[in-house]
Amino acid sequence: MSKSRSFAALVAIVVLIAAGAVADAGQRYGFGKPVTQSHIAPWDIDVNGLTGEGLPPGSGSVAQGAKIWEAKCSSCHGTFGEGAGKYPVIAGGKGTLKDERPEKTVGSYWPYAPTLFDYIKRAMPFRQPQSLSNDEVYALTAYVLNVNDIVPSSAVLDAKSLAAVKMPNRDGFIKAEWDTKNVACMSSCKPAAKVTSDLVSLHVTPDEREVGNVGSTEHLAIAASPEPLPPATSASSRGSTAASNTLARVTFAMVQPVIAKRCTVCHSAKPSQSGFSAAPAGIKFDTPAEIKAQAAQIKSQSVTTHQMPLANMTHMTDKERALLGQWIAAGAPVP
Ligand code: HEC
Ligand code: HEC
Repeated sequence: MSKSRSFAALVAIVVLIAAGAVADAGQRYGFGKPVTQSHIAPWDIDVNGLTGEGLPPGSGSVAQGAKIWEAKCSSCHGTFGEGAGKYPVIAGGKGTLKDERPEKTVGSYWPYAPTLFDYIKRAMPFRQPQSLSNDEVYALTAYVLNVNDIVPSSAVLDAKSLAAVKMPNRDGFIKAEWDTKNVACMSSCKPAAKVTSDLVSLHVTPDEREVGNVGSTEHLAIAASPEPLPPATSASSRGSTAASNTLARVTFAMVQPVIAKRCTVCHSAKPSQSGFSAAPAGIKFDTPAEIKAQAAQIKSQSVTTHQMPLANMTHMTDKERALLGQWIAAGAPVP
């Protein structure tokens, strides 16, 4: 028997055993019970957004939806879908998708109407998901489409009419048709694309200096604490030479970029952080001397407590706080 045939035989045997075990489990081991259609039905709620396949029987009007919305949805999404607090905005945003800050709502962004039924049925209200009847969900779907000016206020939706609704952004998505038959280029190829911007440089994805070492070992000068990090309690109990040897390794050169990135953006004579025009509380870290002179406050605000950076707007990591703590414990040496 060749290797592949023996492998195929083995697979076949395993499949047979597994199938037999499932079929017999009920009778032989006395547990489990056959799954019935009524067991499956509550789980089987997926709707095909494009075709509407899977939309259940039932119907609801905009007027009915308005009442349910007011009672069960408006506290988070606002009376007309304008959003309350930080909860999602559901209506509006028309024509903003190409703006610098697009407002993606059901009306401006979602490509297919049946998806709305699926989403509400499955996930809303946020704290009581799957508590709504199909009629209620049709009514709410109608209301949400109405506040987005997609169906008239007289609309009554059911499976057929909802599937026929055409959303404004239906054609706004690119169809992914990957060229899977492409052959690797070996000669006179196009020049390699040059990446000029990425999500890290745009500050959408924090770089590893902000979030610590996530898998990589490069460029860790800022995030890395000088190792080994002495346990907080042991430094004082150790011999003083051992302790100062460990601490002496934290140099100002390691600390300065941390302060610059996490603090000086605000605490400067000329803050670069938007919204700040002068050094907050008059505290500046523009020079080594200023930093050293305020070491005790830095410790109390950013090491002992996490009061600073303000709301941690500059994403200071715990490792960086530990680093500052060690530098201050070593007497905050500056060159
Ligand atoms: C307690 C607050 C809360 C209530 C009440 C609530 N929602 Fe939501 N809703 C949310 C949150 C939070 C999200 C975003 C969930 C996520 O992205 O995981 C959301 C998302 C949505 C979205 C998708 C928005 C988008 O563009 O992605 C729709 C539609 C929606 N809710 C409809 C409803 C309806 C209809 C009701 C009433 C039956 C309702 N919600 C009640 C909090 C709420
Ligand atoms: C986003 C801007 C911002 C950043 C970044 C920031 N701070 Fe502040 N800081 C403030 C503001 C605003 C105040 C004044 C707060 C107040 O008066 O309650 C302040 C106050 C302080 C104070 C005085 C607190 C007091 O009560 O005496 C110290 C010390 C301080 N910051 C240190 C730091 C250190 C150290 C960092 C970096 C680890 C830092 N800050 C990062 C905005 C910032």
